[in-house]
Amino acid sequence: MSETATLEIDGKKYELPLITGTENEIAIDIKTLRGVTGGVTTIDPGYKNTGSCESAITFLNGEEGILRYRGYSIEELAEKADFLEVAYLLIFGELPTAAELEKFHSDIKAESHVDEDVKKILDGFPKAAHPMGVLSCLTSALVAFNPNTVNVDSEEEMYRAIVKIMGKFPVLTAWAHRKRAGLPLDYGDNSLGYVENFHKMMFHRPNDEYSVDKKIVNAIDKLLILHADHEQNCSTSTVRIVGSSHAGLFVSISAGISALWGPLHGGANQAVIEMLEAIKEDDGDTKKYMAKAKDKEDPFRLMGFGHRVYKNFDPRAKIIKVAADDVLDSLGIDDPVLNIAKGLEKEALEDQYFVDRKLYPNVDFYSGIIYRALGIPVEMFTPMFALGRLPGWIAQWKEMRQRKEPIGRPRQVYIGETQRAFKQIGDR
Ligand code: CMC
Repeated sequence: MSETATLEIDGKKYELPLITGTENEIAIDIKTLRGVTGGVTTIDPGYKNTGSCESAITFLNGEEGILRYRGYSIEELAEKADFLEVAYLLIFGELPTAAELEKFHSDIKAESHVDEDVKKILDGFPKAAHPMGVLSCLTSALVAFNPNTVNVDSEEEMYRAIVKIMGKFPVLTAWAHRKRAGLPLDYGDNSLGYVENFHKMMFHRPNDEYSVDKKIVNAIDKLLILHADHEQNCSTSTVRIVGSSHAGLFVSISAGISALWGPLHGGANQAVIEMLEAIKEDDGDTKKYMAKAKDKEDPFRLMGFGHRVYKNFDPRAKIIKVAADDVLDSLGIDDPVLNIAKGLEKEALEDQYFVDRKLYPNVDFYSGIIYRALGIPVEMFTPMFALGRLPGWIAQWKEMRQRKEPIGRPRQVYIGETQRAFKQIGDR
């Protein structure tokens, strides 16, 4: 393999270095392009073909449907690890020993309280506010209560900031739900595991003894693992770019939550269940929705289908589909929407429009069905995604700061008016 790519503009040739990743992905390094060409830039709206960084966290091969965190396959992690182990792996690069995991968990627990005054902020929201907006706001507000800036060259300070957000974020997520549900705010119970405690914080009723079926905790744990990182997606790129201005971890994550909220990204899990419900109300008429999705005059898209990177099955969707069957079976739930989803998937996979565009079900297609079976309300589906993605955002922010990446600042090609003279208001 040659070490450079040759670019020719107006008969002049420029040699640009090639970079090869550990999985043999090749990239043309254009860092010097503007300098050597005297101002030529590249354009790639939506970054369909542009790498924004080198990263050692997650490997994704969309053609072959491969997803690995730090070299471990998502299938193996979903089967054998728990969420906190995966969080540690993503953030610190290696699977923890038992002692490291215990310390990590106990440091997180020591940070799992939120300043009582945060409740006043929550109190100001209307009950009907979407919990993603509330979560983004409360996460940003954490800065006011933890104002010390983090010296990113200090592993200790970095570690303290990480356990703080890992400890407080589940509390805020659960509170966003409790506010909507009209339940008193709860701190859970630190003698429980991370995910079980989150479940308690969400659902514990003040006048009931708390207990939960282990199957429910395990299913949530698995879903969180499947969402934990996905390399340079929209929200993660947002976290990195906000953090690249040296804004702190909490506000960078708050920005990531806002990016995740959109229906083309994490908000798709809510949109999928709403779509499936609408199909059910329409007597299960999947054909009508397939036609709408293919109609270029209609803005409707088949939610939970398609992916920027996967041009094959999303490996997470495969795991979630099996998990949806298992969870519903073991909880004895018969959700007609699962059958509608399976029928819709089959039709789409056989349809030439979807085949030609390589559109497959993504992680969000079946996740909502499981969340619903677990008793999680539909508006909380995307906050659940955020809770799962938290370690990924942290790992990516940490990597970006420790690699001393420059501030994110894309170029553009200007297509507006060229210079013109100002006209006084009466002359316009
Ligand atoms: N339904 C119908 N047509 C679609 C869909 C869909 N869900 N997704 C893509 N297409 C078509 C699109 O219209 C385009 O057709 P044409 O070539 O004729 O113009 C072609 O497929 C390529 O689509 P694109 O919009 O250029 O692809 P993209 O990489 O920019 O978008 C996507 C990726 C995920 C935003 C898009 O597939 C989509 O909107 N899907 C539905 C929303 C969704 O499920 N999002 C969750 C993504 S996975 C989890 C996550 O990221 O959080």
